[in-house]
Amino acid sequence: MSKFPEQDGADRAAAEIPDPLDADAVAAAVERALADIASAADLEELKAARITHTGEKSALSLANRGIGGLAKEQKAAAGKNIGPARGRISQALAARVVELETERDARILVEEAVDVTAAPRRRRAGARHPLSTLQERVSDVFVGMGWEIAEGPELESEWFNFDALNFAPDHPAREMQDTFFVEPPGAHLVLRTHTSPVQVRSMLERELPIYVLCPGKVFRTDELDATHTPVFHQFEGLAIDRGLTMADLVGTLDHFTQQLFGAEAKVRLRPNYFPFTEPSAELDVWHPGAKGGPQWIEWGGCGMVNPNVLRAAGIDPEIYSGFAFGMGIERALMFRNEVSDMRDIIEGDIRFSEHFGMEI
Ligand code: DAH
Repeated sequence: MSKFPEQDGADRAAAEIPDPLDADAVAAAVERALADIASAADLEELKAARITHTGEKSALSLANRGIGGLAKEQKAAAGKNIGPARGRISQALAARVVELETERDARILVEEAVDVTAAPRRRRAGARHPLSTLQERVSDVFVGMGWEIAEGPELESEWFNFDALNFAPDHPAREMQDTFFVEPPGAHLVLRTHTSPVQVRSMLERELPIYVLCPGKVFRTDELDATHTPVFHQFEGLAIDRGLTMADLVGTLDHFTQQLFGAEAKVRLRPNYFPFTEPSAELDVWHPGAKGGPQWIEWGGCGMVNPNVLRAAGIDPEIYSGFAFGMGIERALMFRNEVSDMRDIIEGDIRFSEHFGMEI
């Protein structure tokens, strides 16, 4: 057996080249061809039969070629012997093609039929995590005011996370209980403990004036419980321009909280200390829709950017001033949507997310 079945057939047919003048031998070749054509079960098999019986190496093609070598008076007789024989084979092939194509089309119609009455198999749509949708909603409010979104790395250099933000070398927040230091110690890398380092990166990378919002993940060495998680999200705002004052800070935050909590929302500042702002304030939001009735809720920190921070980023504090603020997104989700246990937010149970609607 050769590797190619068609060739096998061609060789067999070629082995029995009829004499062009021998009517019986030609009739036998036609019989063989018609039998193969009739028994071809599909178009592939018919193609093989076509090659075997009408191809260049088929018995009748070779016999036909032999006519050229015959004496002049024999040529016409040989032509009459072979020509109609080849014609019968062609006709049989053409007729069988139509039959097999019709069979194939009928089979495809059955195989590919769609049962429009069958019950659908629906894939559940899933739900975006409410942290993501709230973060986007916050970003949208600021983008609507013409601010840009800025990003920074989660694995941050100690200099951006602390030094450039005016943390003294012995500031307690640097100590092991708050900060994940990353090995080797000589690399001075930390998992950023807040989004404030993006302030410094933005000041170094961008043209003045700057209006940026920086949402992202932050990390602290807290145990997971109802109100703490070692990985959480914040957003940081930073505006640097000529002549900015605390009134601009309050106006911006009032507008922002109204977009998020309703027309009656507003902010209240209480004096506080942060190394990177002076003056600094704790920020409370008046939440008209709070569970226990309208009330002030502690949300984050803010202040006027400390001149030392401006100088660390190469900005002249005599010409420019700025304000900054930072808030937690999990915390907002908790008081805005009455989530009482932080662990529900991070567990990833789809039933929790679905409760917030199927936003995409
Ligand atoms: N980075 C502070 C924190 O994580 C929050 C904060 C306070 C951000 C005051 C600020 C700010 O931009 O001005 O606790």
